[in-house]
Amino acid sequence: MTAPVAPGPRGVPLLGNAPDLQRNMYGAMARDFRRYGDVVRYRLGPRVVHLLSHPDLAQQVLVKGAAQHPKIPSGDGLGLLLGRGLVTNDDHPSWLRQRRMMQPVFHRQGLAGLAGEMTAAGDRMLERWRVRYRPGDAVDVAGEMMRVTLDIISRTMFSVAVDEEAARIGTAVEEGTQFVSQRSRRALRLPLHWPLPGHAGFRAAKGTIDAHIAGIIRERRAAGPGRGDLLDLLMAAQDADTGERMTDRQLHDEVLTVIGAGHETTANALSWAWFLLAQHPQVLARLQAEVDGVLEDRDPTLADLGRLPYTAGVFQETLRLYPSAPMVSPRLVLEATILGGYAIPARSALLVSISNIHRHPDFWADPGTFDPGRWVPGGPAQEAQAQEVQKRHRLAFMPFGAGPRLCIGNNFALMEGPLLLAQMARAAEFRLLPGHSVQPEMAVTLRPRGGLPMTFWPRRGRA
Ligand code: HEM
Repeated sequence: MTAPVAPGPRGVPLLGNAPDLQRNMYGAMARDFRRYGDVVRYRLGPRVVHLLSHPDLAQQVLVKGAAQHPKIPSGDGLGLLLGRGLVTNDDHPSWLRQRRMMQPVFHRQGLAGLAGEMTAAGDRMLERWRVRYRPGDAVDVAGEMMRVTLDIISRTMFSVAVDEEAARIGTAVEEGTQFVSQRSRRALRLPLHWPLPGHAGFRAAKGTIDAHIAGIIRERRAAGPGRGDLLDLLMAAQDADTGERMTDRQLHDEVLTVIGAGHETTANALSWAWFLLAQHPQVLARLQAEVDGVLEDRDPTLADLGRLPYTAGVFQETLRLYPSAPMVSPRLVLEATILGGYAIPARSALLVSISNIHRHPDFWADPGTFDPGRWVPGGPAQEAQAQEVQKRHRLAFMPFGAGPRLCIGNNFALMEGPLLLAQMARAAEFRLLPGHSVQPEMAVTLRPRGGLPMTFWPRRGRA
């Protein structure tokens, strides 16, 4: 194979690029894409890693070549937190069995019945705001979004109401995620049982989460099925060959995975939406005009979503600029290959950068501009949009990944996000806190570092 080695930053002896990526992975990915192009070579200690930032490469790795590029076992990374649930399961037969069992709950038709639960959670949040905040009060928008999406995922998937204890679970999941994300970027990982401060914090967070989930499973075992939710389905599922049911350990990992993967992602997208709306008053005004016109004084329903195209556009455009999962999990190269014209050695790792693809100048006009109008058919810029859509690649927008490991919750999120956004935009708006600088940080998901403090402004006394 005579293909050249891909370009990339030099790095330091032994550790290679690990210190740089550890400091600010998200910023480094964007910088190196601009500097070196669609394929960037890194070295993390002894391991070679390539960053891929073109939709054709995403297609080659995640769709066409999915079997040659399995997920890298993450037992010492995200797997420490999530165990062997759907996200971290790298054993193909057992992943496939679990995926087939869980899929029915996530079909679009099945999800339709959940819209009411989603807006009910939105109402509880608006009521909390009404009681708790006065106009101009500082609010951590990121915390509020985490809370409402945790409420939604717990009730819709496991029929568990979110109380104060469950809110602590949200914090524990966040702490755990932060720890494993930092750990996975280290060239050298020390054993978890070593008594280091970070390790103790992680063990405590994991203990809180495990106890909570064990409680959910115990209660359901005692109460028996009948709720028709994801937990019922997982408990009833039987292996076609052996007739065996899932163990408590497997159930535990799937419950935790759905809580982990299914609330922080949508919460981050909604936080970034408020961040962007606060900087684009015309977009906010158009969003408000749409929700006021369609909804008047009621909550949105599923049937309204088709009549709220700009609201959906705001959510999509936010996911384009700030994708909650800025890259897919690392994939392994089983056999040496060529990608984008460069030699890729066997046993190396691949990172597909969703955030770089979403800003790729070959597929997006003004890639850095927040313009929800790109997603709305019709309107004054129709022709320009039509051209843009035409030249767009199928995977130029891929916030939910691609191929067999595509996000199982994509339809759920595309329903939840716009419904909550419409509900919130009808009732209130948020403004940036003067002098506070908002920095994106990648801790598995992309979130505002240290939360998102904003001021709260109810609209016409509605919140
Ligand atoms: C805006 C919201 C969301 C975004 C941006 C997002 C993004 C993603 C991405 C990019 C992947 C693929 C990762 C890879 O290939 O390495 C993924 C997988 C997954 N997501 Fe989501 N997700 C979102 C919401 C949700 C929700 C609401 C749920 C559950 C209710 C969920 C559950 C999962 C699961 C279980 C997987 C693993 C699927 C598998 O490997 O079979 N996600 N998500």
